[in-house]
Amino acid sequence: MALLIPFVLAAYVLLYAFAFTIPPLPPISNFLSVGHAQQAQKPLQDTLDAWLEREERIALDKLLANVAPGGRNVKDAAPGSVIASPSREHPNYFYQWVRDAAITTSTLVDLYAEDASSSLSSQLSAILNDYSNLQSALQHTNNPSGTFGDLSGLGEPKFEADGSPFVGSWGRPQRDGPALRAITLMAYLRAYNTSHPSLWASDSGEDWFKPLYDPSLPAHSIIKADLEYVSHFWNQSSFDLWEEVDGFHFFTAIVQLRAMREGADLALAFEDGGAADWYSQQAQRLERFVHGFWDERKGHLVETLFSSRTGLDCGLLLGSLHGYPSASSHTPVYAPYSDELLVSLLALVQDQRTRFPINAAPSSEEDDNAMEGVGLGRYPEDVYDGYGTDKRGGNPWFLCTASAAQVLYITAEHLVTTSNLTISSTGLPFYEALMSSSSLEPQSDTTYGPSDAVFHSVIERLKSAGDEFMEVIKTHTDAEGSLSEQFDRVTGYERGAKDLTWSYGAFLQAVRARKRIL
Ligand SMILES: *[C@@H]1O[C@H](CO)[C@@H](O)[C@H](O)[C@H]1NC(C)=O
Ligand SMILES: *[C@@H]1O[C@H](CO)[C@@H](O)[C@H](O)[C@H]1NC(C)=O
Ligand SMILES: *[C@@H]1O[C@H](CO)[C@@H](O)[C@H](O)[C@H]1NC(C)=O
Repeated sequence: MALLIPFVLAAYVLLYAFAFTIPPLPPISNFLSVGHAQQAQKPLQDTLDAWLEREERIALDKLLANVAPGGRNVKDAAPGSVIASPSREHPNYFYQWVRDAAITTSTLVDLYAEDASSSLSSQLSAILNDYSNLQSALQHTNNPSGTFGDLSGLGEPKFEADGSPFVGSWGRPQRDGPALRAITLMAYLRAYNTSHPSLWASDSGEDWFKPLYDPSLPAHSIIKADLEYVSHFWNQSSFDLWEEVDGFHFFTAIVQLRAMREGADLALAFEDGGAADWYSQQAQRLERFVHGFWDERKGHLVETLFSSRTGLDCGLLLGSLHGYPSASSHTPVYAPYSDELLVSLLALVQDQRTRFPINAAPSSEEDDNAMEGVGLGRYPEDVYDGYGTDKRGGNPWFLCTASAAQVLYITAEHLVTTSNLTISSTGLPFYEALMSSSSLEPQSDTTYGPSDAVFHSVIERLKSAGDEFMEVIKTHTDAEGSLSEQFDRVTGYERGAKDLTWSYGAFLQAVRARKRIL
């Protein structure tokens, strides 16, 4: 989403440089986002709970507005398309990205799975069927990444909203898309199967499942085609989720791992034994590969191998969340509650806190090492400001800030479920930072359970730290409850593509995780 058209960029940088000759800095976002500048009118007395409840409805409504058919922002888009944002210029995000669409649709699948008989779910079911049909057509659409014949075309990152190929220059291929699409459709297949218990054994079930997975006709079954793509191409480099760096990426690899594991299970269910073995083998190789993203010397995971960047990246959080297996039979690798992921989150938070002026005021004691909610951007070296390049750096993103909250809520949930808080030397820095304002100090190499005070206060603090990130989102959301891509690091006003579909999805997922621990 961040590849830039050079001449627009040049014009922008000029404008920007001009605007900033006279201090104090008049943030350009004030002029560009007049429609957003209504924060003062928000009912200030809203508690977080009350706000979340209202914003949850708004976010779902505004997410669905970007999904065809039915979405009010996508009247001219092909049925089943999920556009990144209704913004058609400055910046133009009126496209369907395979990754973003799969992630958004996975949120819809989760909502569908929660109650398949609700009226929302029948609406969602229609969308999900159209999504599946359209994505199948996109798989077969020749594009600049290649064709369906040798599967190379499946690495194409984005298409026009009407389903035609996007032919401009771009960071391609991107190999996370097919993995995420397979994960989403496998989840839908399982949810649909669960809510239609007689279908699996019946002839009409064949008609429903075959277009999704048919061992004898891989070319006509969308999940099968994606699994084949992942299994044959994961060991080749591709562009990262931010579409900037060609290489090997944590986010890409961990979602590929999940796709291969769940794909092997699905292949077995369809009695496709050879494929199940092949996908399992790739999953084992991928698992070893993913372990290579832990950097012992740096003390955190890195997003891209052999990169000059620090490696701290919101893609680590997103990868852990989207790579987390849905079946308990698979041992998670770098789960949201793993020590490696939590210390990576801490390092990212510590970096971003000092990077953005709006994060500057610490909410409690001036402890620079504390784990507290702040606005989180994508990565330290980011210079994309939502419209063009700003050499002084990027801004916080809603979807990254929401993902941090989701990680913390899931960690709390995990502790409650397992009754086991084991603090290793790897995870210790995170727990020390989390508990820095408490008199209860977690000790390394210690296991705490429900009979220990530390156990309960860590869970409480995980929830309150998650809530701090949600408070940041609340503070920067405009009066209509719209979420754009970013919020300005100086003024806090929204900036970048308006009504970013992924912002709403990430917010909804954080709210769902929060509800599970209330
Ligand atoms: C669908 O459900 C049936 C039981 O109703 C189960 O035997 C089958 O394995 C399920 N299929 C998949 C793909 O999960
Ligand atoms: C990727 O894996 C395939 C299948 O195992 C192998 O044939 C190929 O040589 C590998 N490619 C690279 C670049 O390692
Ligand atoms: C608690 O978790 C630790 C680390 O995850 C594990 O080694 C230990 O066996 C667990 N203890 C219990 C009682 O489950």
